[in-house]
Amino acid sequence: MYDIDKIRHDFPILDTEVYGHKLVYLDNAATTQKPRCVVDAIEQEYFTSNANVHRGVHYLSEKATDLLENARDTVRRFIGAAKTSEIIFTRGTTESINLVASSYGQLLKEGDEILVSEMEHHSDIVPWQLLRDRCGIVIKVIPITDEGELRLDALERLFTPRTRLVCVTQVSNVLGTINPVKEIAAMAHAHGALCLVDGAQSVPHMPVNVKELGCDFFAFSGHKVYGPTGIGVLWGREDLLDRMPPYQAGGEMIASVTFDKTTFEELPFKFEAGTPNYIGSHALAVALDYVSHIGMDAVQSYEADLTRYAMETLGAIDGIRIFGTAPHKDAVVSFLVANIHHLDMGTLLDRLGIAVRTGHHCAQPLMERLGVEGTVRASLALYNTRAEIDALAQGIDRVRQMF
Ligand code: ALA
Repeated sequence: MYDIDKIRHDFPILDTEVYGHKLVYLDNAATTQKPRCVVDAIEQEYFTSNANVHRGVHYLSEKATDLLENARDTVRRFIGAAKTSEIIFTRGTTESINLVASSYGQLLKEGDEILVSEMEHHSDIVPWQLLRDRCGIVIKVIPITDEGELRLDALERLFTPRTRLVCVTQVSNVLGTINPVKEIAAMAHAHGALCLVDGAQSVPHMPVNVKELGCDFFAFSGHKVYGPTGIGVLWGREDLLDRMPPYQAGGEMIASVTFDKTTFEELPFKFEAGTPNYIGSHALAVALDYVSHIGMDAVQSYEADLTRYAMETLGAIDGIRIFGTAPHKDAVVSFLVANIHHLDMGTLLDRLGIAVRTGHHCAQPLMERLGVEGTVRASLALYNTRAEIDALAQGIDRVRQMF
């Protein structure tokens, strides 16, 4: 049984009072709150196991190294990867995608083409633009429908013999659309291209198995899945990662160094220069264990119900426009109400204790497609309730009456 009271009890911050109201935290696509076990794990590791990893022969260093490498295995299991050598710890999704753009990008040639969807976050657009500026690749855009679904017919027509990579988010951070990434990866492969999936907004909400998806790269962030900030993951197929040059250079990633020549460590260490965020990796693993214990299937069906409820409840508000009405959508409702500016709505909702995000959500090209400058976004997590959706609806109504 999904014990929502027990789950909420695990997140002490949810008891916060905001301007005399009980906090209603609906900004989970920006970052999720942390269960007590994650914060405890950070404290415990600093107090009992802190030492630099992979370097010392001493007790604490070995203990910290074990925690880091066990965390890598927890991540591997969580996303269904074959090998821990394919799990690279990064600072987050943004760095994971930058790693691919910098490193895999060096294998590309002028005129090679990359397909990027119109609903991508800036972190899956701008790294490719920097690569374009460096080496002359061509970026093509996969359009979306008015409901916020990817147009697979248009994608099919974008492929050419020069297409090398298709970059797509599994779940849109603005529309909530769940994209058919398995099908997209298969289309990419049929055309001799690779597929990179941005999993920042999917990993917190649904079971993910990279082998089943059939993609080639998969990126996600720890802080959006109840872990700490500053830690994230890039998964890549081993044969690809092996062919790719290092991303950053320094300690940890070398096998041997002379002034004439340096050889590099094996995977995954080749891509992890410098002292890694081993405390963050361990705390991320604790977060993944926490959600695994609840069960990602249970989280998915609880949140699917909550999303439907939010769409119905908010959809009934006078003058509301909801952006993203795809049948397969998850945990995100973006909207505008009458002619109320998104920033005014967000600020006034905050005064009622309701935390939402406003603005372009790091997706300006998508805003342009939607014909708006920004939206108000309510994004859900495993600890939200129908009562909180009701509070949001009442809050929106109060703000509407003020204008
Ligand atoms: N990418 C995060 C969001 O959508 C910050 O809010």
